[in-house]
Amino acid sequence: MPTTSLPESLIATLPGGYYTSPETFAAEQEHIFESMWFCAARSSDLGKPGAYRTVTVGRESVLLTRARDNSVRAFFNVCRHRGARLCTQESGEVSRAFQCPYHAWTYDLQGKLVAAPNLTKMPDIDRTAYGLAKVAVTEWLGYVWICLADDPPSFEEQVVGEIVARLGDVGAIERYAVADLAVGRRIVYDVRANWKLIVENFMECYHCATIHPELTDVLPEFANGYAAQYFVGHGAEFGADVKGFTVDGSDGLDRIPTVAEDQDRRYYAITVKPQVFVNLVPDHVIFHRMYPLAVDRTVVECDWLYLKEVVDAGRDLSRSVELFDRVNRQDFAACERCQPAMSSRLYAGGGVLVPSEHHIGAFHDWVHDRLADRLPR
Ligand code: FES
Ligand code: FE
Repeated sequence: MPTTSLPESLIATLPGGYYTSPETFAAEQEHIFESMWFCAARSSDLGKPGAYRTVTVGRESVLLTRARDNSVRAFFNVCRHRGARLCTQESGEVSRAFQCPYHAWTYDLQGKLVAAPNLTKMPDIDRTAYGLAKVAVTEWLGYVWICLADDPPSFEEQVVGEIVARLGDVGAIERYAVADLAVGRRIVYDVRANWKLIVENFMECYHCATIHPELTDVLPEFANGYAAQYFVGHGAEFGADVKGFTVDGSDGLDRIPTVAEDQDRRYYAITVKPQVFVNLVPDHVIFHRMYPLAVDRTVVECDWLYLKEVVDAGRDLSRSVELFDRVNRQDFAACERCQPAMSSRLYAGGGVLVPSEHHIGAFHDWVHDRLADRLPR
């Protein structure tokens, strides 16, 4: 077996077991995904009162809907009678209430229990107390963020603070008017890899020269293998002959008019722990959300967001979408290549991070902190 003692300039990664152990994954579900703000859906997925979506967050299913007052509501997707899963569809629409298919308890869009067969024979039941259990919810950047913790952390600190730390000030993202953009395309990737491999991959650009030929053509700086986070604050510049952030460097779509001059012809990549990645370019925003479903399986839902008039006019988005769709497929193939080797005895002590990846070491420290003393021994 090779030695695990490293030169000082190199940092060890997490041990392989962190990517394969069901116990570690269960601890992450509880102490990361069920404890932090989680980006669950695009607000426009809940287009009108009664529209709903179900999402898996940690070990729970959560029902998202829009109430009559247009506010977004989130509930545990569990009937209060005998625990049947209330909604089994991923999305849909009800006219005014959710009815459990088992014994027909019925809940309005605010979660209140409004009808139950023979309930008059149970006069003592408190219809509010036996309403659907609420989950904390807020909206930002046109997305629905939820938190399953009994006492949610500050959204400002966890989510807004992380974006500000990456971009310098909140205005830098507000200028992309993300909430007002429209979903031009959504692609859902079912990735056979642990969620942390996907985060680590997104945080580095050491692999860009090897696996992303189209991306490095558009962003020549990336061919140097600098970490994506190196470009934080000033972004990565488009190549001199590149017209737009497209698969062949041809013209992009209409520029978001409020993007600042110094943000034009630049690409920014932001990781918002625990499960969001955002890419900002002058004419669109690429917004990824991960749903970790198993220790070796992560669904990634990716939205390409453009000006509403661009989407409404049916403009051709194909060259624009294809660039990052290829990047995603290249990245996820790399993650899937690593996953099976995580259980190799050769990787029991982990691998190494080169100096440009030191921020991935910081991510590992964060995982350690979240799980401190909470892993089975
Ligand atoms: Fe839902 Fe009985 S379990 S009504
Ligand atoms: Fe990549």
